Amino acid sequence: MKTRKIILDCDPGHDDAIAILLAGSNPAIDLLGITVVAGNQTLIKTGINTLNLCQYLEIDVPVCLGSANPIIKNIEVCELIHGETGLDGFDFETLKRDFDSRSAVEFIVQTILDSKDPITVVTTGPMTNLALAIKVEPKILENIEEVVLMGGSYTNGNVSPAAEFNIFTDPEAAYIVFNSKLKVTMIGLDVTRQVKVLPEIISRMEGINTKSSILFTKLMKVFNENQKSVFGLEGGPLHDPVTIAYLIDPTILDLKYMHCDIDISHGPSYGRTNCDIFDYLHLEKNTFVAMDINSNRFWDIVEIELKNK
Ligand code: BDR
Ligand code: CA
Repeated sequence: MKTRKIILDCDPGHDDAIAILLAGSNPAIDLLGITVVAGNQTLIKTGINTLNLCQYLEIDVPVCLGSANPIIKNIEVCELIHGETGLDGFDFETLKRDFDSRSAVEFIVQTILDSKDPITVVTTGPMTNLALAIKVEPKILENIEEVVLMGGSYTNGNVSPAAEFNIFTDPEAAYIVFNSKLKVTMIGLDVTRQVKVLPEIISRMEGINTKSSILFTKLMKVFNENQKSVFGLEGGPLHDPVTIAYLIDPTILDLKYMHCDIDISHGPSYGRTNCDIFDYLHLEKNTFVAMDINSNRFWDIVEIELKNK
């Protein structure tokens, strides 16, 4: 099996936490480092959450702090879902780890330029760090195999009728990445809403009783309570780990190649991923959009990883 070298750029975040868990333990993934961005909470909180997760899960990779704010907007965190810490629901031991001295942009640029193999960049938060890295050093474009992102929607949004949180938080950053001519794979709400952490999933994973399943279960119980109070959902959609599950087993997603435009017009659809599924506009195709998911296979992948650690 081919091992994918990846940089994971994230904003933990309950669902980001499970993405880190999968990326740090599966042999199909060579996790080179984690870069952090402000999103679900402020940068320092998402950063500390990342260090805590890496310490608990014994994932030994550099953790680099990135941008504290989107490129144009100011950060508006997602406290209603992820809580005051950004990762409410689990008490970590005293933190002994520290951040890498490099900024996220420095790490992304240096790692991609120095690598003899092409790198896949996975983003599960606002795309600020990757967009800034592209602007600072466009040569990285030559050595990026694929950008796999959780974000957007070809149907409706979750922070406005049109927009999804990660894209809405930094639409200009997404615009830069989607227009970079990189291979972009967009995993949006349309498929991530199909992987719900229903009570039977919690019971199934709780029964495994490993270190990682205990983390999963505690975090998901709080995540679900918040999803219920905000959206009225019985089981929260586990958005972010679909990116890593797709790299572990690409067959879990049905993808369609199309033109996707990021709305940066500051109107009512600001932050929308406008996906031209039927090619009405005959514009250059730039995005592989996830249209459907094999959710049973997704949960099998999660279960295997939880049994491992
Ligand atoms: C995205 O928004 C965040 O709250 C989640 O972590 C996920 O990345 C879903 O819209
Ligand atoms: Ca996220």
